[in-house]
Amino acid sequence: NLDFKVQKEQKVREIEDSLQNYLPKQKGYQKIIMEAMEYSLLAGGKRLRPMLMKETYTLFGGHSKVIEPFMAAIEMVHTYSLVHDDLPAMDDDTYRRGKLTTHKKFDEATAILAGDALLTYAFYVISASEKIENSGKVNIIRILSDYSGINGMVGGQYVDMESENKEISFDTLKYIHSHKTGKLLKAAVELPLEALAIEGKQKEVLLEYSELIGIAFQIKDDLLDIEGDFEKTGKESSDEKNNKTTYPKLFGLEKTKEILNDYTEKADRKSVV
Ligand code: IPE
Ligand code: IPE
Ligand code: MG
Ligand code: MG
Ligand code: MG
Repeated sequence: NLDFKVQKEQKVREIEDSLQNYLPKQKGYQKIIMEAMEYSLLAGGKRLRPMLMKETYTLFGGHSKVIEPFMAAIEMVHTYSLVHDDLPAMDDDTYRRGKLTTHKKFDEATAILAGDALLTYAFYVISASEKIENSGKVNIIRILSDYSGINGMVGGQYVDMESENKEISFDTLKYIHSHKTGKLLKAAVELPLEALAIEGKQKEVLLEYSELIGIAFQIKDDLLDIEGDFEKTGKESSDEKNNKTTYPKLFGLEKTKEILNDYTEKADRKSVV
């Protein structure tokens, strides 16, 4: 659908314009790290997390300007996770978002520090925001830090790395997906609900929806690692070289596509409730 595509491109452009405003000014001895932050943050990408956040916030009548710093923050946390995910010690990848990975463009130390800086800057941006009162900000920081860290993305990434070159159970795979990818997508929906104090059934259903699309999203990513082309994904295959356990590896391509379909159908059913 062309209309949808044009609308989506417009939304991505708006998000990218706003992201730029939340980066630190490039100056001083540490200027190169700032360049690396900008290089990775503005390299492109689908901007799915800030988009979900904005859609959720405006769905309940929130004004999009208020949520902007939080959109920038979640994209910073996500981008940091990608910069570190691509490092030689992790997935060892050369391309991301159609460009050289940050450690290839700069060097490893700069990529590690740019990742660290994006992560911490995200929380600076949230706490410095004047658009929401302090108690609301603390709540948002609590959720985002929990979902980004050891109980969230970092936890999932750790088990993902630890599971290379070995057979893991389906439950372990589900843990990896729901944490390394699912938690940040859940945060993208939960943060705006929290900011607007949406409770009860609506919250419950939307959070279930976010969990379902989180899993679906990573299954699709694993499929694209096999079937995707560089022009579209902007990255090269690396799951096989790293001997990762994925849905396609456990179930084969056909069955994986059926499972993916089940997840997206289940998520769609939630979204009409
Ligand atoms: C890539 O995320 C890593 C996963 C969690 C699968 P995205 O596919 O959202 O990457 P960008 O932001 O569009 O580059
Ligand atoms: C990583 O999953 C998810 C993150 C938290 C970064 P992948 O390692 O499969 O992501 P890609 O394929 O490199 O984007
Ligand atoms: Mg990885
Ligand atoms: Mg990777
Ligand atoms: Mg992948």
